[in-house]
Amino acid sequence: MERGRIYYFSGTGNSYYCAKKIGEKLHLKVEGIRRETEAAGEMEYLGLVFPVYALGPPNIVRDFIRKLEGLEASYVFVVLTYGGAYGRALEYTRDLLKKEGVDLSYGAAVRYPDNYIIAFKVPSLEKQMKLIGDGDRKLGRILKDLAGNKKLLERDKIPMRYIPNMIYEYSAKRFRKMGKNLKADDSCISCGLCERECPTKNIVLAGKKIVFGVRCELCLRCVHICPKNSINYKNRTQNKKRYLNPRVYMVKK
Ligand SMILES: Cc1cc2nc3c(=O)[nH]c(=O)nc-3n(C[C@H](O)[C@H](O)[C@H](O)COP(=O)(O)O)c2cc1C
Ligand code: SF4
Ligand code: SF4
Repeated sequence: MERGRIYYFSGTGNSYYCAKKIGEKLHLKVEGIRRETEAAGEMEYLGLVFPVYALGPPNIVRDFIRKLEGLEASYVFVVLTYGGAYGRALEYTRDLLKKEGVDLSYGAAVRYPDNYIIAFKVPSLEKQMKLIGDGDRKLGRILKDLAGNKKLLERDKIPMRYIPNMIYEYSAKRFRKMGKNLKADDSCISCGLCERECPTKNIVLAGKKIVFGVRCELCLRCVHICPKNSINYKNRTQNKKRYLNPRVYMVKK
């Protein structure tokens, strides 16, 4: 039987960092989820690691789970990262997996800095370091749990847990359309970083022009990673600080 794999999605590195650490601890390969990614067969471990989007999984993760029918894994875990509240994201993911005949053994959440600068601001550097430190400590406890194949389903604090799935489903639909509002302005220096880094290959540098396609997952990596802060969402992100998980990205602006 194959030992298994961790499938992850990540915009600004928080979830990638967790996936990488868990992979090292459990000796599992780590694979980024693309729209075409599928998993099948029999395996010992199946891990899913991703950021919370509107109190649920990103669309691309939800769609990946819907293709898991027939997969058999002895120990299935979900580790999500979030910025403030994850509501029913773990229960929702457990139910999605169940529909495909996959039983969730372990689900836990790690709080890291919030990257959703369309609505919020990145925390101050001091707060970021505190959040990252606390998040890393929580990840340490999760690593021990996973190494012992512990069974658990964490629950977010009341009242976020009682927010209905409808809110997630409505927002998730909107996220797939919101990518069309991303634009690069004249400060772009055509370095090509956004094109290389977009996890869904949704950006093309055509001559000096940045062209966004229709495969955006609203992960916001392009917005946060551009060295000139040239990429913005409507007029909501101008003059806002950017965030990248410092353990993953060494980019200096
Ligand atoms: C589209 C979008 C929606 C988000 N929704 C939530 C949310 O509902 N609750 C929350 O706590 N954080 C939310 N966040 C913040 C991320 O979940 C959080 O910053 C996460 O750690 C980012 O992980 P990453 O660095 O792997 O992309 C959202 C971020 C994005 C981009
Ligand atoms: S990362 Fe920024 S500067 Fe570089 S090509 Fe993309 S938009 Fe232009
Ligand atoms: S275009 Fe930007 S926000 Fe959309 S998937 Fe690519 S990196 Fe993420």
